[in-house]
Amino acid sequence: MVTANGTAEARKALPVYSARHRLVEVVKTSPCLVLVGETGSGKTTQVPRLLLEAGLAAGGAIACTQPRRIAAVTVAQRVANEMGCKLGSQVGYCVRFDDRTGPDTRIKYMTDGMLLREALLDPLLQRYKVVILDEAHERTVATDVLLGLLKAAAAGRPEGDLRLVVMSATLDTQKLTAYFQGSQAAYIAGRQYPVQVMYTPAPEESYVDAAITTALQIHCEEGPGDVLVFLTGQDEIEACERLLTDRAASLPPDPARLSLCVLPLYAALPPEAQLRVFERAAPGSRRVVLATNIAETSVTVPGVRFVVDSGMVKARAYSPRLGADCLQVVPVSQAQARQRSGRAGREGPGKAFRLYTEAAFAKLAPSTAPEILRTNLSSVVLQLKALGVRDVLGFDFLDPPPAPALVRSLELLLALGALTREGDLAHPIGTSLARLPVDPMFGRVLMASAELGCSEEALAVIAMASTDPVFQFPREKREEAAAAHARFASREGDHLTALAVFQRFVAQPRKQAAAWCREGFLNARSLAKARDIHAQLRGHFQALGLRLASCGDDATPLRQALVMGLFSHAARRQPGGTYRVLATGQDVALHPSSALARAGGARSGVPAVDAVVFGELVRTTRTYARDVTAIDINWLPQLVPNFFARAAAAGG
Ligand code: CDP
Ligand code: MG
Repeated sequence: MVTANGTAEARKALPVYSARHRLVEVVKTSPCLVLVGETGSGKTTQVPRLLLEAGLAAGGAIACTQPRRIAAVTVAQRVANEMGCKLGSQVGYCVRFDDRTGPDTRIKYMTDGMLLREALLDPLLQRYKVVILDEAHERTVATDVLLGLLKAAAAGRPEGDLRLVVMSATLDTQKLTAYFQGSQAAYIAGRQYPVQVMYTPAPEESYVDAAITTALQIHCEEGPGDVLVFLTGQDEIEACERLLTDRAASLPPDPARLSLCVLPLYAALPPEAQLRVFERAAPGSRRVVLATNIAETSVTVPGVRFVVDSGMVKARAYSPRLGADCLQVVPVSQAQARQRSGRAGREGPGKAFRLYTEAAFAKLAPSTAPEILRTNLSSVVLQLKALGVRDVLGFDFLDPPPAPALVRSLELLLALGALTREGDLAHPIGTSLARLPVDPMFGRVLMASAELGCSEEALAVIAMASTDPVFQFPREKREEAAAAHARFASREGDHLTALAVFQRFVAQPRKQAAAWCREGFLNARSLAKARDIHAQLRGHFQALGLRLASCGDDATPLRQALVMGLFSHAARRQPGGTYRVLATGQDVALHPSSALARAGGARSGVPAVDAVVFGELVRTTRTYARDVTAIDINWLPQLVPNFFARAAAAGG
């Protein structure tokens, strides 16, 4: 039975609600509940509330972690509505740079990263009576570390004082129940209708084209029901949205056909737009939701009967070869493909169209490796050190990361000055870096900027690096946009370009900022977010007793501060025009969007820069460095002698 969305009846129809007595009983009697239930069964919205109402949070609060900000924010809003209270009162959320909780908050939805930060100040998490780790199957680094910390925290508090719940749609319960002594698993049967899975007979040349064609084919040939298309990221989704809308408009008219409504869904979408996916299609229309892997488990889109699976996902992974984290589009795992297909069978029998062959499916990895086995661990290692974990290699991980990856992180932290030779947290650099809510490399840039007298600028640069892209390129106005952006371009690179945009943005009178952004083809929301992040970082910065100062028009101190944090991302130009990363010897190209990418070209009139530091790598057909700043190669041995002395001695 389909009830109106959000009503009390709809709530009571959720499988979790029917199982409430059993769940409360397990939480009361055992130290840890491992709860497995199909997506949409009501775990995230109902379990915290049920435990609160059962009196399990007496004298404290309930934390419920999410790997994604969007989930924490939208769910908190939803639960506040359901409970008839204002967001930020009894129910609130806390994500990086955005805290909507108050003194009365009893249910706090938060990102797993935020709970990890709270553990730094209070390792026993005293203020919580219940901690729920949600979406645990995603196995983010923060969730994995929290598993270990919570185990220790529960052991460190009086028996029964801290209760744990680990929830997921698909989970290796055996491994978890073995990990948490005395824990109990509970399964909630979801309503799942059969889903017919279809493959393409031959590999597709472009999954984006194939996705558009398939969505239109469903629209023209299949019965009612919404279509959920899994793509990889914002740019791709926006392009797809335009193409699909255009092609639907040029279909031959057919009065029997439903009208088509295309909706995007990705993490950087403004909250109002995100909430639109929860509204059912208007009568006589069909929705096509173009989503990232967000719609796999953390967000349930109602009304879906058809799934189109590109078979790809954008993932951040540490590349040992490149010595850096790298964002790239990779094939999904079989478990992910099944999870995606399952989305078609929530409300009735459905169909899933996989845009790859059956043979390709057979070759996919059975499941996604935990993130901790694939990413840069320096932030985690630093936090563990700050929590007093001396032997990081011996920490009780559910899946221990490879020792060489841990050792590399320890080395980087040593080079950043965050650890002593003995491996202890160094004061003040290490203690400060652990408190700054940014990657240790960026944190080091901020600390260096205090010494070099350019912290006002560095705070702006790091705030801009922590927000979503600000340059917009609307279709048909690409050249106009590029010309508008060129006003900000700095010969010294992207960090300074971003600084120029930020400084001019904040100089606008508030009332004119939106128009100014529109005329300059800049994303006003991203810039507003950067301003917010800037204010918060500045607060953290001052709380650490660091010196605020401006270097004015001379960018040299700022570029030097960047070197002191990003030195492991320093690269030198090669005769062929690529850049060789000094720390690893790998060759990378400057990203075409970089302010420095055009320098050195035959017609640019600007010589190419000899050496750079970069913020991150992106791998498509080749490996590109993004967020690049020109540096003087001689600064490296001067500013970071312990890292580069060897190279300098060798004449490199
Ligand atoms: O966590 P789980 O996937 O088990 O389910 P849930 O997120 O608690 O969702 C329960 C129901 O609430 C689903 O039918 C969702 O579509 C709906 N929901 C919603 O309409 N709006 C939200 N912001 C969150 C959930
Ligand atoms: Mg959920």
